[in-house]
Amino acid sequence: MQAKITTLPGDGIGPEIVSATRLVLDTVASTFDHQFTYREALLGGIAIDETGNAFPDATLEACQQADAILLGAVGGPKWDDPNAADRPERGLLAMRKALGLFANIRPVKLFRGLEAASPLKAERLANVDLLFVRELTGGIYFGQPKGKDVVDGERRGFDTMVYRESEIRRIVSLAMEIARKRPRKHVTSIDKANVLATMQVWRQVATEVGAENPDITLVHQLVDSAAMRLVTNPGDFDVIVAGNMFGDILSDEGAVLTGSLGLLPSASLGETKLGVYEPIHGSAPDIAGKGIANPLGTILSAAMLLRHSLDLDTEALAIEAAVQQALDDGLRTGDLGGGEKSLGTTAMGEAICARIKKH
Ligand code: IPM
Ligand code: MG
Repeated sequence: MQAKITTLPGDGIGPEIVSATRLVLDTVASTFDHQFTYREALLGGIAIDETGNAFPDATLEACQQADAILLGAVGGPKWDDPNAADRPERGLLAMRKALGLFANIRPVKLFRGLEAASPLKAERLANVDLLFVRELTGGIYFGQPKGKDVVDGERRGFDTMVYRESEIRRIVSLAMEIARKRPRKHVTSIDKANVLATMQVWRQVATEVGAENPDITLVHQLVDSAAMRLVTNPGDFDVIVAGNMFGDILSDEGAVLTGSLGLLPSASLGETKLGVYEPIHGSAPDIAGKGIANPLGTILSAAMLLRHSLDLDTEALAIEAAVQQALDDGLRTGDLGGGEKSLGTTAMGEAICARIKKH
C-alpha cells in the first residue's frame, strides 16, 4: 500500500527517536512491499524558534493531508518561561484539538526480561496488562475561563474543569469497545465524584454507557484510590478510562510499572483513521543529542500507527515481535539498565530492523 506519514520530531530527543523509527518503518515498507512517503513538520519549541508559533498553520496542513502522524516529543527548559508568549505544550494541545483527537490510548504491558527494571516487587506485577483510555480534548486542560490575573493585590491563576455529556459518552463508549476485544472485558472509570460536580456528571454518564454495554463489567473508582491501587494491585486493572488530567497523571504512574517510560507507545485517535502516534515519555533534554535515548517507545508507537491508521496488523505484530526478540537477545539501551554494553538510539533501531527482516 501507499501511505503518507507526517513526522513531527519536535524537541530534545524527539528528532533522534523519530529517525531511528523511520529506519524501522522503511524496513517494514521494503519487507512487506509498501510505499511510505514522509513529510516533516514543525511542532513545539523548534516551531516557536523558527516561526514564533508552537503549532504553525503549515504543520496543521501537513497533518491534515497525512494518513498518519508520528510524533517525537515537545518541550524543554529553553521554552519553560511561564511568561513566554507561546509554549511547546500549547502546540501539542492545539494539534490534538485541531485534529479532533479526543482519545489517547496507552497500553501498559510488561516486557519479558525486564521484570527486574520495575520499581515494584515481582509479586505485585502478576497479571499486569492494562490500557489507559484518556480523554484528550476536553476537561481542565481546555475549559474556559482559564487565565492569570491579580486580585486584591495578589496573583491568581484559574482553570475550569468541564465535561459535556457527549464528550463523556464518546470516550467511555470507546473504552467499552476496546474492552470488548480483551479477555477480561473490564472497565474502570476514574472520577472524583465525591468532590467535583464535573465528575458527578462523569459518573452518571459512565453508568449509563455501562448499562448499554452489559457484556462489559464497569466499576467506578475515585482517582486517589486508583492511584494507590495502581501500585499495590496493578494486576486488577484491565481498561482504565479517565478524563484528561486524571488520565495524564495515572498513565505516567501506570507506565513506570514496566520499568521504563522509554518503552511505552501511545495513539491519539478521533472519529477518522487519522491518528497521532508518540511515545509517552517526554523530550528528555538532559540526554538530547547524545544518541543514547531509547527509541523503542516510538518504534512501538509506529506499530500502533500501522495497526490503527493503516490497517497493517501483520506489520504491527512484526515490529512488536522484533522488539521482544531484541530484548530476549539481551539488547538494552541505557535507561533499561544496559550499563556499559548499552546500545545507542540508532543501533537499537537497526537491531529492530534486522529482526523484522528475519521475520
Ligand atoms: C502527555 C504530556 C502532555 C499532556 C504535555 C506535554 C502537554 O504530558 O502527552 O501526557 O499533558 O497531555
Ligand atoms: Mg503526560
